[in-house]
Amino acid sequence: MNTIWSDNVQGILTLYLSRKLRFDDRFFPQYEGLFRLDRGRELRILEVGCGPGALAEALCRWYPRAEIHGIDRDSRFIEYAREHVAGVSFSEGDAARLPFEEGTFDVTISNTVQEHVEPSAFWGEQRRVLKPGGVCLCLSARRGIRRGAPCLEPTDTEKAFWAAQPDAESSLEAFQVCRYPMSESEIPASMEKHGFVHVTTGYAVIDLTPDDPKYPAPMAEAMIEAERQSDLDAIRSVRSADAEDVICAANARYDERLRLYRAGIRQWDTSVSLTMVLRGEK
Ligand SMILES: C[S@@+](CC[C@H](N)C(=O)[O-])C[C@H]1O[C@@H](n2cnc3c(N)ncnc32)[C@H](O)[C@@H]1O
Repeated sequence: MNTIWSDNVQGILTLYLSRKLRFDDRFFPQYEGLFRLDRGRELRILEVGCGPGALAEALCRWYPRAEIHGIDRDSRFIEYAREHVAGVSFSEGDAARLPFEEGTFDVTISNTVQEHVEPSAFWGEQRRVLKPGGVCLCLSARRGIRRGAPCLEPTDTEKAFWAAQPDAESSLEAFQVCRYPMSESEIPASMEKHGFVHVTTGYAVIDLTPDDPKYPAPMAEAMIEAERQSDLDAIRSVRSADAEDVICAANARYDERLRLYRAGIRQWDTSVSLTMVLRGEK
């Protein structure tokens, strides 16, 4: 049982809830233009490093004739995906040694996985399992924009808690997170170097601003709850005796943010994510 990522790096709900928003149907036109897949075809799609399954779930809605399989090394993510995501099959496995025959899939796709897997294995394995002419889609998060609401500023209790923790960078290094970071020019070059042709790049801009009236209330509240969950998962991952007090403090901040939203008192806090989408063919 491998639970390294879900125990130490990002919790199930941190990933699932944030991705559910980023892959909401209202953003599909952006992705569709970058993926350039035929919705009418019976595609076999493999999602590599699928986490708890929110992208696979979206692909299932967007490509209704596709057969989709998700694979990830973390047992807890796969267990959650199997329980919560209908219409997709999931299995545990390593992106560097995909347990599939050569030429099995029409499409491989990944979201924020490239930087964690050695490049020749990451591209080489996807290229191997793709059919000739198959499409590799690599989604990579780039620096976006974040502006918090004043009521979401961490309290002194929370600041003291985090100040007492060891340096986050060094613990991520210990779990080999982000060992192979690449710039916006290096990723397409690496894809070509590893045999993909007709490589193209593009960007999806996902703006999550709860107070913007274009978002219906359930989606606006889901944005606030996704942020809450990410903070709570981070606190829980520390496994400290003080965690309960810190969880209460964090919950109070998000309860207040929800109250303000419901009262129509706008904060205009925003999170804009920029996802680079690379597309290459075998
Ligand atoms: C940043 S998370 C992204 C998860 C998912 N793609 C999403 O967007 O929610 C990176 C994921 O890659 C997985 N991962 C990292 N190295 C892997 C490997 N060698 N084989 C399979 N999965 C891997 C982790 O377990 C984690 O689920």
